[in-house]
Order: sequence, then structure tokens, then C-alpha cells
Amino acid sequence: MKKIDITTTFTEYENVTELSENIQELLAAAEEAREKAYAPYSHFKVGAAVLLANGEIVTGNNQENGAFPSGLCAERVALFAAGAAHPAVEAEALFITARAVDHDLEEPVAPCGACRQVMAETERNQRAKLRVYFMGTTGRILAADSVEALLPYAFRFRDWE
Ligand code: THU
Repeated sequence: MKKIDITTTFTEYENVTELSENIQELLAAAEEAREKAYAPYSHFKVGAAVLLANGEIVTGNNQENGAFPSGLCAERVALFAAGAAHPAVEAEALFITARAVDHDLEEPVAPCGACRQVMAETERNQRAKLRVYFMGTTGRILAADSVEALLPYAFRFRDWE
């Protein structure tokens, strides 16, 4: 018997001005998407923007539903939209931002487990790392160089084939 330690590393940016220009653009797209979220039940708006290898940005936001489990998170709306429109193009980076309807969030909002699972499959299929940036509405930003930092030991369907 032995213990296995897994270390994951995140980069912290104190504020938006520390991000490169193209990642600031990605954030701006995620913010625009966030404001269009359909979140009448949680009053919690999330925006996500995917930067593709061809330079295109695909966005998504949370889409809720009165039959609660029928809704979907912003990250999956964005990643599935990217996959639907550009199935052969790598996703290089994903930016996530969140805001409560009546107040800003000053701490980073980390993606949920189900979205991490979808990110893991995107990264595995494209055989190239997907960088993930996440923040609240203002304040610091956290970034992972790979989905593996967010979801070590991810479930992989093909491991059984
Ligand atoms: N939500 C996201 O869009 N992304 C996450 O990673 C976590 C949660 C949404 C789902 C729901 O519409 C609202 O935030 C509150 O959970």
C-alpha cells in the first residue's frame, strides 16, 4: 500500500490588466455572454467563452429551466456550441465569469464537476491542452494550464475499450 500525491498548480492574476491582450478579449466575450444568461431561478449569471485555434471565440451562458435539471451551465453551453460548429478545431482557452444578479462577486467562481468532465473530454480528444481561466465579476483570476489540474483522474470511457 502506498499513498499517491497529486499536485495541481494554478496561476493567479491579481486583476484583468495582468492578462494578455487576447485573453482580455476572451474575458470581454465571456462578460457579454454572462449578461445574457437566462437565470430566473438562481439569479446567478455565468458567462463562458472558448478561444479556438482558428482565432474564433464561441460563447455560452447558463440556460435554466423550470424543470430544474433540464438547464445547463455556461461552460457546457459554450463547449458544446464550439463542438457543434467547429468539430475539428482545437479549443485553446476557456474563460468563465459569474455575477449574482444583484451584486458583483469578488472571488473566483470555479467550474462545477460536470463541466470539468466535459472539459476533460475536449482536452483528451484534441490531444492538446485547454487552458481554463475563472473569476467572479471583479478581482483576481485563477487559471489552470490544463483541465488535468481541475480534474485529476478523470473518468475516461475509452479506457475500457
Ligand atoms: N452554473 C454554471 O453555469 N456553471 C457552473 O460551473 C456552476 C453553475 C450555473 C447553473 C445554474 O444556472 C446557476 O449557475 C446556479 O447554480
